[in-house]
Amino acid sequence: MDHANDTLYLQIAERIAHPIRSGTLARGERIPSVRELARQQGVSLSTVVQAYRTLEDARLIEARPRSGYFVAARAPRPPEPEPSRPPADSQPVDVSSLGAQVMQLATDPRFLSFGAACPSGELFAQDRVRRAVSRAAQRHRATLCQYPIGPGNEQLRRAIARYAMGLGCQLDARELLVTNGCLEAISLCLRAVTQPGDVVALESPSYFGFLEILESMHLRALEIPTHPRTGLSLDALQLAFDTQPVKAVLAVPTLSNPIGASMPLAERKRLAQMVAERGIPLIEDVLYNDLAEQDDRRRAVKSFDTTGHVMVCGSFSKTVAPGIRLGWVEAGRWGAQVRRLKAVHSGGHTELLELAMADLLTQAGSESAYRQLRATIAARVDEARGLIAESFPRGTRVTDPAGGYILWVELPPGSDSLALFHACLAEHICFAPGTMFSATDRYRRCLRLGVGGRWDAEQRAGLRRIGELARAMLG
Ligand SMILES: Cc1ncc(COP(=O)(O)O)c(C=O)c1O
Repeated sequence: MDHANDTLYLQIAERIAHPIRSGTLARGERIPSVRELARQQGVSLSTVVQAYRTLEDARLIEARPRSGYFVAARAPRPPEPEPSRPPADSQPVDVSSLGAQVMQLATDPRFLSFGAACPSGELFAQDRVRRAVSRAAQRHRATLCQYPIGPGNEQLRRAIARYAMGLGCQLDARELLVTNGCLEAISLCLRAVTQPGDVVALESPSYFGFLEILESMHLRALEIPTHPRTGLSLDALQLAFDTQPVKAVLAVPTLSNPIGASMPLAERKRLAQMVAERGIPLIEDVLYNDLAEQDDRRRAVKSFDTTGHVMVCGSFSKTVAPGIRLGWVEAGRWGAQVRRLKAVHSGGHTELLELAMADLLTQAGSESAYRQLRATIAARVDEARGLIAESFPRGTRVTDPAGGYILWVELPPGSDSLALFHACLAEHICFAPGTMFSATDRYRRCLRLGVGGRWDAEQRAGLRRIGELARAMLG
């Protein structure tokens, strides 16, 4: 086939596909007839026919007898991955340095990156954040020349306690500890309740930052089967409690990273009961709760905790301002140990930033800012799933998370996401290969794609290119 015509019909197809994916052309809406479009675009009828055939194959449009062409009632979406099936035994953790490489490339302007699990700057209310910081600097000049001692600025702890009511939790500000992001909160909790060699149960696949912490503390990972929609299998966790010396559970019940699962409300309650019955601490990461689309998925397991076995950890890195680098923990019955560990290991924070964060949390409009963020990223995730459906190999599976900006893609049998990773790096495209998310040699066919970063024509082309390379590698 003639190459110029080959790309022309694809260009025409893309001119229709783009407004469908972005929602400008709504589902079921009529699109121009072949004749109309040929005239509008100044191309031949056969080019438009070919373009429409491509759009039909991608299930973006459909022909209705004697009526013309319409935007398909539902955009094509690949199936979701099956629940994970990790081994039943715990493993020592020895993760590679891939995580550091992926994170470094996420900020390298020469790369199109799908590596980071964080929104890009323009998705945050940057001006509001800057104003809060300069207001704090004006009003609290003395704090920079004073040692910050204790569990964190009281105003901020009160603001966090109020904020946590939105997660269904009644927390006492005196029991809250301000931390350096969510990761420090989690490290402190693990340190308080485990010894080297202990077994920690967690989702599979799980956030590589958790695996790195376990490795640094010489803890063993017991990966628990996890469903891409509903999260940790509580039956599997119960079995693990019965057969393995589990010392702690580390879970992200809302929008777990990387599969974006969110536990149903009844399961959250059951999890709180299970850990209370066994006396096993649950370290609950609520970092992504504000990004969940459904209200009941925003409610923390901690809200069902009546015995103090849930240690709840959060931060504002994904919703307010990652650069302020503040998180928090309410560690239940281990509160005193966690506070002591924090004082010994890192002490307090820049109080100015704590005051700015307290200001930001208590300003009117936070909820509408979260709503706006959720809507923007939902449209983007939908578009990215559509691009994956069109350009990745047949048989690819992809998650359909109810919020957040992370997609977990499972390529068809015979694929190797690590080889794909290297092929993409050679073209200055980066993503997180699946093997980063397990202490075992699993998920070699998987990749995590973060679509919260830059989002423009080049980035979309980068996503398609990953799919093309994956197809080419499969032959
Ligand atoms: C599940 C999860 N917990 C914690 C973190 C780190 O949070 P922070 O930046 O607040 O330390 C991340 C970052 O991606 C994450 O995905």
